[in-house]
Amino acid sequence: MIQVDLTGKNAVVTGATRGIGLGVAKALAKAGAAVACIGTNQEKLTASVEGIVADGGNAKAYICNVADSAAVAETAKTILADFGKIDILVNNAGITRDMLMRRITDEQWNDVINVNLSGTFYVTRAFVESMRKSKWGRIINIASISGLIGNKGQANYSASKAGVIGFTRTISKELANRNITANAICPGFIDTDMTAVLDPIYIQGLKDHIPMGRIGVPEDIANAVLFFASPDSSFVTGQILTVDGGMIY
Ligand code: NAI
Repeated sequence: MIQVDLTGKNAVVTGATRGIGLGVAKALAKAGAAVACIGTNQEKLTASVEGIVADGGNAKAYICNVADSAAVAETAKTILADFGKIDILVNNAGITRDMLMRRITDEQWNDVINVNLSGTFYVTRAFVESMRKSKWGRIINIASISGLIGNKGQANYSASKAGVIGFTRTISKELANRNITANAICPGFIDTDMTAVLDPIYIQGLKDHIPMGRIGVPEDIANAVLFFASPDSSFVTGQILTVDGGMIY
């Protein structure tokens, strides 16, 4: 794991119940940050947070659906009351509803856009004032290589992630004068519950296209997050970092 000192910093990670979000929350806590973990499953989120605390980290669980604007605003109020300020935000919560474009239902389209894109907006808007006040902030959005190059069966998902990339580039320009950076990470194929549902033959086919010869793990993404969260990356903003073992470029 990259060595970064985040002592005294407070972070929010959405979708911290499992997978990449949990890996990121663990890494931030290990680096010394206090972490507000947002998720939708009370039991699983509590277990994940208890794991971080058992490892000596400082973390707290908050149940919130990021696609619900009012719920996000309420949860942010509670988190800010508990933590005082938020310095680092990792917008990681995301879902897929894969289907060929011509068969995507309105519901499948809206669900993905609402969680992946609107959720990123709602949560960022809710915490940006705290960062502006302290004139320091790090916003790290988890996009996807699908948002860069597209992927058959993921028109809704690709559109949501391309939206996250455009959102990130714009807010990096709006917030730079307050010493707040905004960057996005585009993971390639990462071994999590989200990808565990895919056909093993499809997974092998993907693996054959990864020059590094392996599927990624949540720690690969957490390391990139640590870089963007670090005080040392203060001149890096508006960047889209692909972390995919060399798969797409
Ligand atoms: P996952 O399905 O294992 O975990 C997703 C997390 O988001 C869970 O904790 C879930 O509870 C949370 N979540 C989902 N909907 C939510 C909502 N409405 N409100 C609050 N939390 C919600 O997924 P994984 O693989 O860990 O993905 C994390 C992020 O990385 C997602 O944004 C995903 O699109 C992105 N990503 C993942 C890749 C992969 O290969 N696993 C590749 C590229 C991007």
